[in-house]
Amino acid sequence: MSAKKVYVQTIGCQMNVVDSELILGRLRPLGYMPTDSVEAADLVIVNTCAIRKKAEQKAFSFIGRLFRLKQKKQNMIIGVGGCVAQQEGRKIMQRMPYVDLVFGTSAVDRLTAAVARIEADHCRIVDVAMADAIDEIGTAPEKMPSSSVSKFVTIMRGCDNYCTYCVVPFVRGREISRNPRHIIQEIEMLVQKAGIREVTLLGQNVNSYGTKDGHCAFPNLLERINDIEGLKRIRFTTSHPKDLSNRLMEAYGRLEKLCHHIHLPVQSGSNTVLKRMNRKYTREIYLDKVNRLREMCPDIAITSDIIVGFPGETPRDYEETLSLVRTVAFDSLFAFKYSDRPNAAAGRFPNKVAKAEKNRRLQELLDIQSAITLRIHQRLQNKTVTVLVEGFSKKQAEESDGCSGVEWSGRTSANKIVNFVQNESPMQSLPLSVGDMVQVRIEKAGPHSLWGRTVGSCFECSRPKGDNSYAA
Ligand code: SAH
Ligand code: SF4
Ligand code: F3S
Repeated sequence: MSAKKVYVQTIGCQMNVVDSELILGRLRPLGYMPTDSVEAADLVIVNTCAIRKKAEQKAFSFIGRLFRLKQKKQNMIIGVGGCVAQQEGRKIMQRMPYVDLVFGTSAVDRLTAAVARIEADHCRIVDVAMADAIDEIGTAPEKMPSSSVSKFVTIMRGCDNYCTYCVVPFVRGREISRNPRHIIQEIEMLVQKAGIREVTLLGQNVNSYGTKDGHCAFPNLLERINDIEGLKRIRFTTSHPKDLSNRLMEAYGRLEKLCHHIHLPVQSGSNTVLKRMNRKYTREIYLDKVNRLREMCPDIAITSDIIVGFPGETPRDYEETLSLVRTVAFDSLFAFKYSDRPNAAAGRFPNKVAKAEKNRRLQELLDIQSAITLRIHQRLQNKTVTVLVEGFSKKQAEESDGCSGVEWSGRTSANKIVNFVQNESPMQSLPLSVGDMVQVRIEKAGPHSLWGRTVGSCFECSRPKGDNSYAA
């Protein structure tokens, strides 16, 4: 008998990417193997995001398209998980009678049992109960990727901040941190057994890691991870500016594996808007922290999130955001148009900004940021940077004839994408492999990436001599 197939559609942030891996792991004991073809699947899981109306619509339109497929394939099981499932629960069943399972953000642990019951009884299940403890995720072998160099590791779940625009506290529950011992064990295993060289620690507000649950503080966790042999780089996301401590800023100067990049969402440059967003810092406090970060680590890349058109955002408030963007000169920005969310307080705030005005503000902000990003990238021209090799470049993957002038891709410590070729022919120099650290001299700078050539034939290789087992 051939194995049953599961197709998982992931929408949303890195948390959902990790949860989708866990979902696949929970389905393996039932005999489900992953497939890239939704038509071939016996079970389709849609892992949804509720952060903005658009993400929610994307989920519903994908689920809507499954109706026809199910008409052709009556036995196909359809499951909806993630943040929209948590938010809407039973309503999804009523709206889409062909959905068999709705499971919330804490129900992944119970997924095996739920799918087994649906298979046996052909029943429909809704499970959106929230957990008040964190399941010790992560040590399962299904989390091991076959050929990647970088991996997300969840260190905490949920959020207690209640920013007035945000749905996350309602769909992900209260903030809970994982035990540091389990995090370290997971990373050690990823390094030793799967050749992982870089980890990105995930949480909605990693700066408050451990405080509520009595674990060590976040800078201590970083110190312990920094000691893991074989690991080369540590990243984390996301940081809330109000909880960015001096100790964490100092860590950039002390911990050699900590990448020189911080994602520090500011959301707005106006103090009145920040107050109504319940962000608990001012523009001045934010700018002061940026200055201190740059004192500790002069080449640190700073990226951010901004919302335009928050209810009551006046042209003057918006100008203050533009002035903050120019003052900080972020390396890059994620900018969003404000979107009302169920339960989030700002949905009830007056003076909503018109759609056309939100579009105008977003476009102007993105144009200003593009020019800043390009300027920062141009400053790297003719400089040599250290790149962790992640694989072939996109262009190479599309055009490859497999032999001449291979173009590689990787990232700098500051998270800049660098596409590059080897200066010498691979016949003369050592063959390059995924997971190697190479020195690249930047020759061209674009708005989204950099391009260069390796310097010399010397690179720090993470493999034992003669072992090309990670070769891409
Ligand atoms: N925990 C992170 C953010 C997670 S959500 C933090 O605190 O920074 C990612 C981004 O989505 C947010 O930083 C915010 O800029 C944006 N966002 C969240 N809710 C939104 C809404 N209702 N409308 C528009 N953008 C929103
Ligand atoms: Fe949402 Fe604010 Fe929590 Fe981030 S810190 S997840 S923006 S409530
Ligand atoms: Fe979306 Fe949920 Fe992440 S709402 S951004 S998938 S935490």
